[in-house]
Amino acid sequence: MKVEPAGTLIGHIAVPGDKSISHRAVLIGALCEDETHVQGFGRSADTESTIAAVRTLGVEVDELAEDELVVHGTELQGSDPGRGQTPVVDCGNAGTLMRLLAGILAGQSGRCELTGDESLSARPMERIAEPLKRMGAKISTTGGHAPLVIEGSDALKAIDYVLPVASAQVKSAVLLAALNADGTTTVSEPAPTRDHTELMLAAAGAAVRRRPGSVSIEPAAGLSLGEVTVPGDFSSAAPFVVAATLLAGSELTIHDVGLNPRRTGLLEVLERMGARITIFNRRRAGGEWIGDLEVHSSELTATDVGAEEVPRLVDELPLFALAAAGARGDSRLTGAAELRVKETDRIETVTNGLRALGAHIRARDDGFEVRGVPARPTGGRMSSDGDHRVAVLAAVAGLVSREGVEVGDADAVAISFPGFFDLLDSVSRR
Ligand code: S3P
Repeated sequence: MKVEPAGTLIGHIAVPGDKSISHRAVLIGALCEDETHVQGFGRSADTESTIAAVRTLGVEVDELAEDELVVHGTELQGSDPGRGQTPVVDCGNAGTLMRLLAGILAGQSGRCELTGDESLSARPMERIAEPLKRMGAKISTTGGHAPLVIEGSDALKAIDYVLPVASAQVKSAVLLAALNADGTTTVSEPAPTRDHTELMLAAAGAAVRRRPGSVSIEPAAGLSLGEVTVPGDFSSAAPFVVAATLLAGSELTIHDVGLNPRRTGLLEVLERMGARITIFNRRRAGGEWIGDLEVHSSELTATDVGAEEVPRLVDELPLFALAAAGARGDSRLTGAAELRVKETDRIETVTNGLRALGAHIRARDDGFEVRGVPARPTGGRMSSDGDHRVAVLAAVAGLVSREGVEVGDADAVAISFPGFFDLLDSVSRR
């Protein structure tokens, strides 16, 4: 698909529900003892994998509308979906699904196999298998990767776990397993990662205790969420924020966006670079902050991003690369080796992709260096390599380029945001 250069972005939009929270609403909803009504569900290929996964495990999900579900929780007890056989759950491309579900299944008696697509099958799974085995679950990986075979136990041991990498998915896997452990489990993290699991488990009635740098949870039964209202996905708003910042004359408002401070690192980074972003109507919905973002275009100056900040914009780092390429001065990203184990090696896909469009960007082991030029990049061709965040990056690069960008494998956007190109079209002015 060819994305032509745009003049400005003008208008008011809303983005679909948060992917991280949508996965958790379905998974934790399945663990509840009653019904969970989910509004604002972010429907995408990834979250549809999660609906299919809990159905495989015997949980009924009513799809009342595109963005509205009822999950009939069973505490995942009493069903025998495999009729004596090992059920196989296909997690598709969704790392969050595979890692969180592994944590849940570790604490349930029974055997289950988790598979994924080619990209997911190349991603590291020992990082969850190791703590879950320490808790007493039997998990076998395939050389450290999916397929995983999990033999859970409803009598896990509580552990104190220090995360070797700042990963919300690993933290969540341990917290979910800990619901069926024999005492208090504590997870410490090297830098603050997204806390949607802690917030949702607390809302469901689990005893969650938070301290700076760690979270503890007690075993829990009889969870009940009732209603979950999913805020707009900050990660889906981010491409619009970056495009409106870079395109002179833009004025764009994005309504009802999730503003959990552990997700909005990109706003702080862009503000440091000189962006003009105002937050209106900041309010709480459920346990989460939401608000409206008003973005005016602005000239940017370079900045550095390091390890402590990385988890708060981990999925937006590809867009940071583009913002830095259009800023005055040299920017540097360090402490982001995790990008190498996302849906693609994003240090390579992002730096190779943007360089082909005329940006001055170089890969480092744990990040990248960008020599910014406050002018439009030339454009050209950039493939997503099947990675949704890279497809979105290529599209935004097309808008802000001189000659447009031919986005290879553009359909990958549907992994997280099927309506992305239509929404982009609706606010682009030539
Ligand atoms: C996610 C956590 C992050 C993020 C991913 C979603 C989550 O991964 O990159 O897109 O929903 O918990 P890690 O926790 O592995 O860094």
